[in-house]
Amino acid sequence: MINSVDFTNKDQSYKTVFFETFGCQMNKLDAELSLGLLQEEGYKIVDKVDEADVILFNTCSVRQHAEDKVYSHLGALKTLKKRHPEVIVGVLGCMAQKDGEAIFKRMPHVDLVCGTRMFSRLPEMLLKIRNHGSHVLAIDEDQIVNVKRAVTYRPNFYQAFVTVMRGCDNYCSYCIVPYVRGREISRTIADVKEEVQSLVSNGCKEVTLLGQNINSYGKGLGGNVTLGDLLSELNDVEGLDRIRFVTSHPADISHDLIRTISHLEKVCEYLHMPAQSGSDEVLKRMRRGYTAGYYRDLISYTRELISHITVASDFIVGFPGETEEDFQKTVRLMEDIRFQNCFIFKYSPRTGTKAAELKDDVPDEIKRERNIKLLGLQKRISLEENTKMIGKEVDVLVEGASKSDPNRFSGRTRQNHIVVFNGSQELVGKLVDVVVHEVTDLTLFGKLTSCI
Ligand code: SAH
Ligand code: SF4
Ligand code: F3S
Repeated sequence: MINSVDFTNKDQSYKTVFFETFGCQMNKLDAELSLGLLQEEGYKIVDKVDEADVILFNTCSVRQHAEDKVYSHLGALKTLKKRHPEVIVGVLGCMAQKDGEAIFKRMPHVDLVCGTRMFSRLPEMLLKIRNHGSHVLAIDEDQIVNVKRAVTYRPNFYQAFVTVMRGCDNYCSYCIVPYVRGREISRTIADVKEEVQSLVSNGCKEVTLLGQNINSYGKGLGGNVTLGDLLSELNDVEGLDRIRFVTSHPADISHDLIRTISHLEKVCEYLHMPAQSGSDEVLKRMRRGYTAGYYRDLISYTRELISHITVASDFIVGFPGETEEDFQKTVRLMEDIRFQNCFIFKYSPRTGTKAAELKDDVPDEIKRERNIKLLGLQKRISLEENTKMIGKEVDVLVEGASKSDPNRFSGRTRQNHIVVFNGSQELVGKLVDVVVHEVTDLTLFGKLTSCI
């Protein structure tokens, strides 16, 4: 929360920045890239607004709630800006792209609105505001984002997210992403590989490739390049242990890709492939391009080739026209597939999307009830699946001290289970074997057997 503000320590040279990020992994990575750029310009990152010369919010528009949160944070900065007009307040990311100029009208104390494809020019924009005192609006969506990554600025050294494509051309009827992130643009394999090699030579062990619709990676690059080609190339990078990729789309993932990853030993056995609903009628109105039956067959095929793969999904409850019968079909899909984990969202109409033309006719109370029911069901399934892991040995990439108990350490399996175990600081960033003794729906608890 942003409230009390004290500028006694203020450095007059505009070199401290407070940065807060909302939204998905893609946004978090853009924040990391932006901060890398600013650090190279000599900015110091501070974690309190009252120590910052520049305050930046990297925003999300996917649901109304995400936007409301940012507007309330911005509103809380009004008094600060009155007392210290020299402090620069900026809004970046998806909501900046979507609301543009309107942000200045609603929040006149904002100095900068910078969309999803312009953040590589942040340093010069901040300089312009500082020197000329003018507002800057930068929301050109045809720009190609080209950021030379400062591999030395990273939240941790053994894991990294890497953007392989930006934008989305799918236009699911409920979704704002294609409007705020623009058309799909893939980076070349050579470009991605160079970045991954450079991360690995700086200590990285695991990369997660990011794309809103990652299965269509390669479209537009020429020569029928596919995600399978990229994964095969990265599988050869020496020193890299694990590769993950998100987010898969059931209509775009190919059997070829599934076959390819079944042979690549560094690609982890984990698939985040949102189903969104178990009802064909709802899926049709969502413009998802597949049926629940197709989704089931896809999972069966995948599990035939990669028996121990775990699958995660997103679901939207209360989409326009969703009946109790539709909802029960979602419940059945969840029961049958037995996902490792699921993100469940209440439908939130987004102006400008196709679904916003439909009546938002499921009452909030029902959306809430359905949300709670699916969360409860998933919790039960996760606990049952995790219980099957008791007694098994799992390989874990150690991430750091456990949040709930600083004397224990935590990491993830290849299948994306969170594991907490006895450990020590020097194991951070290493692969270890752990035997599972106890579980909850969210966590496996175990004992270290060896360090690989
Ligand atoms: N590119 C990813 C993520 C998109 S946004 C994908 O295609 O899966 C993440 C999730 O937010 C979506 O999977 C969907 O479940 C949810 N979501 C998107 N728009 C929404 C809306 N208008 N209301 C509620 N949930 C939404
Ligand atoms: Fe949105 Fe659909 Fe694109 Fe995912 S695939 S970002 S849900 S339009
Ligand atoms: Fe949100 Fe933008 Fe990601 S709308 S979910 S931050 S692509």
